[in-house]
Amino acid sequence: MNKKTVKDIDVKGKTVLVRVDFNVPLREVKRAKIAPAKVFEVADDTRIIKTLPTIDYLLDQEAKVVMISHLGRPKGRDPNLSLLAVADHLGALLKKPVKFVSDCIGKEVEEAVKAMKAGDIILLENTRFYPQEEKNDPDFAQKLASLADIFVNDAFATAHRSHASTVGVTKYLPSVVGLLMEKEVIELTEVIESPEHPFVGIIGGAKISSKMGVIENLLKKVDTLLLGGALANTVLKAKGFEVGKSLIEKEMVDKAKESSRDEKLKILVDAVVASEPKEEAQASMVGIDRVPKDQWILDIGPKTVEFYKNIIQEAQTIIWNGPMGMFEIETFAQGTNGIAKAIVESGASKIVIGGGETLQAIIKYYKPLALANRRIHVSTGGGAMLEFLEGKKLPAIEALQDK
Ligand code: 3PG
Repeated sequence: MNKKTVKDIDVKGKTVLVRVDFNVPLREVKRAKIAPAKVFEVADDTRIIKTLPTIDYLLDQEAKVVMISHLGRPKGRDPNLSLLAVADHLGALLKKPVKFVSDCIGKEVEEAVKAMKAGDIILLENTRFYPQEEKNDPDFAQKLASLADIFVNDAFATAHRSHASTVGVTKYLPSVVGLLMEKEVIELTEVIESPEHPFVGIIGGAKISSKMGVIENLLKKVDTLLLGGALANTVLKAKGFEVGKSLIEKEMVDKAKESSRDEKLKILVDAVVASEPKEEAQASMVGIDRVPKDQWILDIGPKTVEFYKNIIQEAQTIIWNGPMGMFEIETFAQGTNGIAKAIVESGASKIVIGGGETLQAIIKYYKPLALANRRIHVSTGGGAMLEFLEGKKLPAIEALQDK
């Protein structure tokens, strides 16, 4: 990688501002009804665990580590989107106290940073409680930067956002890449630039408009591209199939026609359909040319799983982003589970699995397997990974110092 990393700069004893992506799912801890405020805990800590190499390195170097992140998309201060639960969780993982400060700029923060000793770590409150964050406001960025001597960006999942805490701060501090960010860039570059063949891409999820660029770019690189999820409905429509009441993006049908003619692109041969996208709805399997007008396509069918599995088994390189169906409802999760299982059990030498929903989809059965498997890179990026795969430059990486 052509950017300086945290290991190319002297951090010993320095105060280091570390931007991480702790935008993780939280769940409410059930307590007595009289309790005054809601209490949350971290529901999935993949993104937190993946930042530990950078944190451990900085603590080993006796740096003072000041961590910042966003969480969710708050409109102003929102107690439901506080990073407090994440500080507790991180402390448990590190087996050392992580002080939480209930703001990210201002007097309380300045005093907390001033009181830090070598090897201390603090986590500041959600940067998006300030609208200046997403506006990349220079004054806000300068206030964040004034807390530290060095800036380390380890938030790959936010690297496509040009915000004050990702791009703005780099104007005021020596700014380098963190170890997670470095690994993400190396893994994704390798898979896109020099994959071993057969190279199979699997793209699912809801909106084809957000993934059209990736589909087009991947079609130039892969041997086979398998589609699933609601986005495949638009391609089915473009190919002239009846899709009943299924979600489609009408304005994308013409665009989808071009890609749908590519022989490398494979779509479902059967589907799980139901009258409503609801748990209680009666589901049935139909051939893809037999979707009733009053039904929704909610998952890929068993024949499609088998068809895709045979292709996945032959692959040397696999990249997967997006669930194959409405996996939140068990009845419509079989396609996604089947594909997750086929990928994890495949003999491919390199596997990259995307973050966001894809990660949620594999959590239930395959996360321990996937995280422990050296062939598999589970990317923390959702939107960032997609933009990377589209071939776009990510602004938060571009802003960091060259080697
Ligand atoms: C993500 O989860 O993809 C990142 O944290 C970015 O979040 P955003 O889409 O709200 O900017």
